[in-house]
Amino acid sequence: MLSIDHQIRLASEHVLSALAKRPSAQAGSPAWGRFQGRFEQHFPALFQELSALYGERADFLDFIETLLVTALEAWQARPEDLKALDLAREADPLWFQSQKMLGGVCYVDKFAGTLKGIEAQIPYFQELGLTYLHLMPLFKCPEGNSDGGYAVSSYREVNPALGTMDDLRSLTRALRGAGISLVLDFIFNHTSDEHEWARGCVSGAPEYQGFYHIFPDRGLPDQYDQTLREIFPDQHPGGFSQLADGRWVWTTFNSFQWDLNYSNPAVFTAMAGEMLAIANLGTAFLRMDAVAFVWKKLGTACENLPEAHTVIRAFSALARIAAPSLLFKSEAIVHPDDVVKYISYRECQISYNPLQMALLWNSLATREVNLLQQALEQRHNLAADTAWVNYVRSHDDIGWTFSDEDAAQFGVDAFQHRQFLNRFYVNRFEGSFARGVPFQDNPVTGDCRICGTCASLAGIEQGDPHAVARLLLLYSVALSSGGIPLIYLGDEVGAMNDHSYLDNPDQAMDSRWVHRPAYDPERYSDRHNPNTVAGQIYAGLTRMIAIRKAHAVFAGGHLNGFRAGSRSVLAYTRGGHSGHLLALANFSESVQRVPAHVLAAQPEIAQDLLTGHQHRLREGLTLAPYQVVWLDCSTAK
Ligand code: GLC
Ligand code: GLC
Repeated sequence: MLSIDHQIRLASEHVLSALAKRPSAQAGSPAWGRFQGRFEQHFPALFQELSALYGERADFLDFIETLLVTALEAWQARPEDLKALDLAREADPLWFQSQKMLGGVCYVDKFAGTLKGIEAQIPYFQELGLTYLHLMPLFKCPEGNSDGGYAVSSYREVNPALGTMDDLRSLTRALRGAGISLVLDFIFNHTSDEHEWARGCVSGAPEYQGFYHIFPDRGLPDQYDQTLREIFPDQHPGGFSQLADGRWVWTTFNSFQWDLNYSNPAVFTAMAGEMLAIANLGTAFLRMDAVAFVWKKLGTACENLPEAHTVIRAFSALARIAAPSLLFKSEAIVHPDDVVKYISYRECQISYNPLQMALLWNSLATREVNLLQQALEQRHNLAADTAWVNYVRSHDDIGWTFSDEDAAQFGVDAFQHRQFLNRFYVNRFEGSFARGVPFQDNPVTGDCRICGTCASLAGIEQGDPHAVARLLLLYSVALSSGGIPLIYLGDEVGAMNDHSYLDNPDQAMDSRWVHRPAYDPERYSDRHNPNTVAGQIYAGLTRMIAIRKAHAVFAGGHLNGFRAGSRSVLAYTRGGHSGHLLALANFSESVQRVPAHVLAAQPEIAQDLLTGHQHRLREGLTLAPYQVVWLDCSTAK
């Protein structure tokens, strides 16, 4: 058996000479030289990941060669402006750690009708300060229910209702010109049942055999189902759906979303080609959808398996060769111990922070910061070349993904507590300010998640006097705790729940639609009017955004916990050497005192960046209901 280094060297020489012989390679040209340089740098990592997945196969070398042909072709097709961007980003690899970063996310149709409509909104995005725009899935998908586009029928065609590929290219360029990076989903765990691979696979086309997990009978599905978690139990029990011909196909999500079979290297190659094509549209970040589910193994939950990480790292190494500035964002809405395993520079450089998101809502409901403070102190700091995407809510449900063990440290029974949170947020708890709705209520397991817009969950729908302050408090944490803050567009003007999905047979089953309301022109035109809720939210939010952008102390992701001496006050510091920022946030509707002794090590006087007010810290600090202060503790003033 050859040593791994030796194998890598042989494979590398073999593949490189095969590539160089291709007429299109233009071996010797400067473009080839750059490709070769990156190949030599990243091939060893790529080879090692792939050999862990497929190395036992007799055709392993052929597979690698075919894959690298795909990479070379994608590199050659990569537009020159993106190659220039690649060089710029390689020279500044931590560009996304800047405090100037601000994310927004929206559905193309709901926010602006079409891609052209989105392009026309660029001045608004600039007004808000966005540097990152996640457009929800926009590729071709089945008519009717497509899980909001998360069932892709072709990664090379834009959904015709939204526009064309040319519209998308033009939009991407215009966004880049405005300093906004485009984020698109890479929905690589599954395709729609209308994708040509899916059609070919069922009809017996040889090139697509083994692309999906299809079983002749219930034998294996029954065995797998014993250990699978049900993701959409309302749609179908277990992890499989029956085909018209009686066979069974793996469907983690809806029955029209067929899980791809990554144990087949042809699937890896095919998806790599799609990934690089999406990158070449000018996508800066790929939102790696449903990362937890991509690898299956009998007798396990088929979530977060080591091979799922290997698949992602292999895609990442390939991107370093053929689309070097492309970065990955992990969408792992799982146990916090598992979430962080996807985050590293060689795997996903950025990741949703579902724990912070869920615990923000937890603290609002309980008026206690214990779990959130613990998460910030023990689970927040990441490697310096990676970042959280901190958000308050997304297009998906809110699930209570905190760790049972973490909760137990405060004597909290996790199961009971989740039941309480569900009741609280769907307004089955007396005195609740929230107006959410349940999602995938599972009477068998007692599991349930919740849906609702930020405004409706924070009390604006109910008319609670503290609602605006609550909403701003949540966003203050996302904006000040490090990483990239992400706004679900509509939240900045207080968009409320929209129950019209119940009249749409393709959506009525899926209550996540309640919090995906369409752009409301009235709210947006109210945004500069301080007498409206929209105006109050917008003013508060844009003020925090401006302060964040103006102060380098918000850059990067590192924070230190700070104990404010009150059960309801969350506290942390940011920055270090040249002084720091102390953020305090009162999660209750009662006045809270931060006693003088906890502030003893701070400067005597510190200015609140949010109000400009100077606080004499030796006297302690009083926080009004839901008040946030961002104290500039840099120099004694
Ligand atoms: C992700 C998406 C979600 C979708 C699922 C299947 O979790 O965020 O909306 O239903 O993947 O693609
Ligand atoms: C995601 C999550 C799950 C979420 C769902 C979409 O992948 O794992 O918690 O609810 O898909 O709703």
